[in-house]
Amino acid sequence: MFSTPAVALYALLANGLLATCQFSPAESLAAQFSLTTSTSLPFPTQTLSTNDAQSYLTSNWGLSKGRVQNNPDDLAFIADPFPTKPAPGSTTSSGNGSVLAVTYAADAFASTNSGSQFYSLLNTTDGSKFNSMLLTYEVAFDADFPFVKGGKLPGLRGGPQIDGCSGGDAANGTNCFSTRLMWRKSGQGEVYAYIPSSSSLCKDSNVLCNQDGFGTSIDRGSFSFVPGQWNRVTLLVQLNDASGSANGQVQLYYNNVLALKQQDLVYRTTSDVDIGGLYFSTFFGGDDSSWAPSQTTHSYFRNFQFYGSSASSNLTSTSAATSAISSISMERLFSVFIAVGAVLLAGEFF
Ligand SMILES: *[C@@H]1O[C@H](CO)[C@@H](O)[C@H](O)[C@H]1NC(C)=O
Ligand SMILES: *[C@@H]1O[C@H](CO)[C@@H](O)[C@H](O)[C@H]1NC(C)=O
Ligand SMILES: *[C@@H]1O[C@H](CO)[C@@H](O)[C@H](O)[C@H]1NC(C)=O
Ligand SMILES: *[C@@H]1O[C@H](CO)[C@@H](O)[C@H](O)[C@H]1NC(C)=O
Repeated sequence: MFSTPAVALYALLANGLLATCQFSPAESLAAQFSLTTSTSLPFPTQTLSTNDAQSYLTSNWGLSKGRVQNNPDDLAFIADPFPTKPAPGSTTSSGNGSVLAVTYAADAFASTNSGSQFYSLLNTTDGSKFNSMLLTYEVAFDADFPFVKGGKLPGLRGGPQIDGCSGGDAANGTNCFSTRLMWRKSGQGEVYAYIPSSSSLCKDSNVLCNQDGFGTSIDRGSFSFVPGQWNRVTLLVQLNDASGSANGQVQLYYNNVLALKQQDLVYRTTSDVDIGGLYFSTFFGGDDSSWAPSQTTHSYFRNFQFYGSSASSNLTSTSAATSAISSISMERLFSVFIAVGAVLLAGEFF
């Protein structure tokens, strides 16, 4: 009598496991989300010290304002420090041999003194705007990297306020958004988003909303960065309908395995906010000395690739009407189904 539901639940269980463990390289994710426009950032064929690195970035990486905004002297192109330590499951190497190295000064914190920041604008040939984008890149940290309390890592940003949605400058739906990554204590990873916050979002147990206009931490510790080797991160951002319905989403894949997925997001309430490009932002902090490393240290970046589309998310919001059911409670419901399925299976077959 249970055989039909047991079979159905078994299928659900099998699909759930597959979805969780599936190895998803960026190209296949891009195809899955119909992100047909792609580009990558070029790297120089030789190493470049700071001044030349700055000229190279200015000429080749489409910098907003035509310059590196914070601490250009902390950037250089160097030889791959981890040539025998690729990201697990990855076959890519350093395209032209060089990688972008960032120096974080000892005792320094916040973007004005630590690491570096710039905004690389991505353009379409036909002038259309990006409303969905997959960004993938590789990052490595010195083997003895002191993670301290945390720091920023590159992500995406967009909107007419090109300096906003960073440094405590809040997102309000019409100005901008940003979705960077952060490392936290012991290398724990998260998506750190400047998006309008809502009570349903902040109630979600995977989400930490900050006060005073700072960013929202999504699923801290859902993956961890490993120092002394390459790590691949792949970030999917699909903006919500410009009408403001809560159907936007973010997903993060760590070494090509899904680490976090947050849906029912509102990034914007107007089509003036779209996805502008790469927000290269990395520094220790936080905004006080408790975030600073006691030694000078480094991170390294390579293989920035982008897959975009002018289509925004086509998901159906589960929270717009009721705001009661978040995607996470749907996932919990799903786990309950899996548990029930397992019990039914056990009863049926063992
Ligand atoms: C939503 O978008 C995905 C990815 O482009 C596509 O495969 C799917 O068919 C779309 N669904 C609907 C209902 O349009
Ligand atoms: C390698 O360098 C050449 C010449 O500067 C450039 O055209 C090309 O885009 C670079 N390739 C990569 C993968 O960075
Ligand atoms: C994209 O367009 C902006 C604004 O016109 C420009 O500053 C930037 O250099 C362009 N980016 C690239 C990669 O060409
Ligand atoms: C959103 O922020 C921008 C920039 O700070 C400001 O000009 C605008 O008036 C704000 N809009 C709302 C609805 O608060």
